[in-house]
Amino acid sequence: MGFEDLAWLFRCDHRNRGILRLDFDEAAVLWRAVRATRGDILEIGRLLGGSTVLLAEASREGPDRAPGGLGSGRRIVSLDIAPRHRPECEAYFAREGVRERLDLRIANAHLPIASDERFGMCFIDGDHSYEGVRADTCAHWDRIDTGDGLVVFHDAIPNDGLDFKNDGTLAHAPGVLRWCEELLATGCAEEVERGGSMLCVRKTRELPAALVEEAIAVWRE
Ligand SMILES: C[S@@+](CC[C@H](N)C(=O)[O-])C[C@H]1O[C@@H](n2cnc3c(N)ncnc32)[C@H](O)[C@@H]1O
Repeated sequence: MGFEDLAWLFRCDHRNRGILRLDFDEAAVLWRAVRATRGDILEIGRLLGGSTVLLAEASREGPDRAPGGLGSGRRIVSLDIAPRHRPECEAYFAREGVRERLDLRIANAHLPIASDERFGMCFIDGDHSYEGVRADTCAHWDRIDTGDGLVVFHDAIPNDGLDFKNDGTLAHAPGVLRWCEELLATGCAEEVERGGSMLCVRKTRELPAALVEEAIAVWRE
């Protein structure tokens, strides 16, 4: 068991957020997904750079890292249309052993990346509208490994992570929830775990070509 498996010991809510825009239990889901997969990592939405740091650290090679999937050279491709990196993150990104593995792009994630890159894991935390997260998923789904590739969605699951004011507020983005329910209903993904508003799914097969085309066509114009 790792530290990330002890999130249930903590009270996790929005007060956990700093440079990394995740609650502690949500960060634990993301960390576990990295550790459970192999191959390169795709991130959609990095904002201040906090989640990119977490992805890079979770995929770092070293004697303190579990064997299998955490070998050397695990790259992270990160897409963001308007990032605002914090100086602390810039300093981390410049470290030896990190900078060689990072590919930080300024790009609209609603459109497929112009390459034949493949990924073992994807973190989606960009545009939280239904149309936006659907396009993000469809544009990159065929790049994710089938069978053991994991995709993690933030703000998908209604939870009490905002409820520290005791006003019954549930934290999630309705458009992300709607899309994740549709995605699971296609049978192209199956649920692995959830924590806070995070939903981690395993890719089981490709999405129908017509669905992919419909989802991204509008963003090509
Ligand atoms: C919630 S923030 C990401 C927070 C970050 N993942 C973290 O946990 O620290 C969402 C980010 O998505 C980016 N974004 C929104 N729409 C986008 C799009 N169409 N393509 C790429 N990035 C987008 C925004 O610029 C913003 O930086």
